[in-house]
Amino acid sequence: MCGIIGYIGNKAAEPILIKGLKKMEYRGYDSAGLCLANNGKLLTIKRKGEVNELEKAIKNEKIKESKYNIGIAHTRWATHGSPSKINAHPHLDSENKIAIVHNGIIENYDSLKEILKKDKVKLRSETDSEIIAHLISKFYKGNLKEAVKKTVKLIEGSYGLAVIDKQANKIIATRNSSPLVIGVGKNETFVASDPLALMSETKKIIYLKDKQLAEINGKDFVIEDYIGNEVDFEIIELKLEAAQIEKGNYKHFMLKEIFDQPQSLRNLLAGRLKDEEIKLSLNLKNKKWRRIILCACGTSWHSCLIGKHFIEKYTNIPVEVDYASEFRYRNPVVGKNDLFIAVSQSGETADTLAALREANLKGADSLGIVNVVGSTISREVNSGVYLHAGPEIGVASTKAFSSQVLAFLLLSLYLQQEKGEKLDKKTIKEIKRLPQLVEEVLKTNQQIKKIAKKFNSINNFLYLGRGINFPVALEGALKLKEISYIHAEGYPAAEIKHGPIALIDKDLPSLFLATKDELLEKIISNMQEIKARGGKIITIANEKRKELIELSDYVVYVPKTTTELAGIVNSIPLQLLAYHTADLKNLNVDRPRNLAKSVTVE
Ligand code: G6P
Repeated sequence: MCGIIGYIGNKAAEPILIKGLKKMEYRGYDSAGLCLANNGKLLTIKRKGEVNELEKAIKNEKIKESKYNIGIAHTRWATHGSPSKINAHPHLDSENKIAIVHNGIIENYDSLKEILKKDKVKLRSETDSEIIAHLISKFYKGNLKEAVKKTVKLIEGSYGLAVIDKQANKIIATRNSSPLVIGVGKNETFVASDPLALMSETKKIIYLKDKQLAEINGKDFVIEDYIGNEVDFEIIELKLEAAQIEKGNYKHFMLKEIFDQPQSLRNLLAGRLKDEEIKLSLNLKNKKWRRIILCACGTSWHSCLIGKHFIEKYTNIPVEVDYASEFRYRNPVVGKNDLFIAVSQSGETADTLAALREANLKGADSLGIVNVVGSTISREVNSGVYLHAGPEIGVASTKAFSSQVLAFLLLSLYLQQEKGEKLDKKTIKEIKRLPQLVEEVLKTNQQIKKIAKKFNSINNFLYLGRGINFPVALEGALKLKEISYIHAEGYPAAEIKHGPIALIDKDLPSLFLATKDELLEKIISNMQEIKARGGKIITIANEKRKELIELSDYVVYVPKTTTELAGIVNSIPLQLLAYHTADLKNLNVDRPRNLAKSVTVE
């Protein structure tokens, strides 16, 4: 999704801005631009397409780099208006004296446009963002900060905003429901919507809070609220290494992240599983909830469906799983007897954040399962479990998913332990063995590549499972459609009789999750139903059963484990199948069309 970077200091701004934009490419975007300021002049360059195109355009401009020590830049993911050079940010006012970059959505766009219409302002683009530049210009009486404050007070919606003017002596940055950080350097200061953009410049970060505004002049900065009171802030040292956001020898980030999983799972377990005890430092209000609500979007929502199995099994507390986008607008019945768990890799997904705020407002206890340290969700929950999976760059979530599932298992066992119950030794032993099991299952890579070759010209795919394997099927289907653009459906295997079986023929393959658990016999019957209708079958199994082999066209064997951990082990061949299918089709695996890594608009 959209990315912002701004720089002011004693170095040339343009290479720093470009480098920052490149670090944010993983988020998904369709156009890019930058605006550099020098005393009395703004220079704006924008391009549709990749940051490389913008870089070429800048080279053609033959910029004297040393002249520009201040600038703002942006990668845009279209919401209002198509991807185009005109719609790309930065946007300027009519007199070209103010430039803005904006992430988010302005909901009262139409009424704000009316104000500008009265002033006879001609909009150049189709974006909602452009009106911000004109409004700031309207209110500008020599003080940029005050003009920005007046403008944001009129805006309904979400924004991460960075603004410069042609005086070229400051950046004004502010946010509401859209992430923005200040990067602190020596005689230089940065603004970014994603701390990863600043990785090679500084690791000292301040997370701006909603409705805080920073005035930055390169040497110094002030953070205040909209009334003008200075606010306290904390400078956080990011614990990230550059290598964590490099592909290394892997062809794509997604493949690297699939292969990262033994390590990312070890990171999650470190210090949290000692001998037979689960150690989580949670600051929960009470532990006698009448209900637990799990809320998320996308892949994180699938991990919640698995989490429900664990929590209900180990705590006996009823669990509801909700899409954040549905929960937030339903006026949900939620209160102090509920625990609300927000699950998010990025910790910034707009719907999940809004759902959490709704639950907090209604007095629920809240907990986050989040990967990105310091992200907004992680700061707004009462308690949390960080995944420590490291940066996930591929748009299709892989290692965050397996870590979320493991985090749910640890949390469920922790809650059981808090009730004074003894934990099941076999489960604990299997959790300790999990990273090795994942190493083992990754050895199926080449076999899966061969299977992908057989099926990559297919247009539709069914993924079928029961119990914990049903959400695994949903996640497998999502992975395939996200990156290979093959239509895929995940379904509870028993439900196919109620509709999807009508679709079965030789051109609709079914992938069955048929690892050993109490539902295996039932799954075998479901496989027979497909076979009888001429459907092709790929099976994920963990034992060599005659019927499975006879019914399947291809069998991928994964290591044996408990039903709970099968949720993680079984998802890995499906990640590999999606990866190889997309790669064989020469698609942009890490940045699939139309998708964004972190969805900061609703
Ligand atoms: C986007 C990403 C998905 C992700 C979802 C939720 O759609 O492409 O991979 O699962 O957002 O993101 P979150 O950061 O909240 O887990």
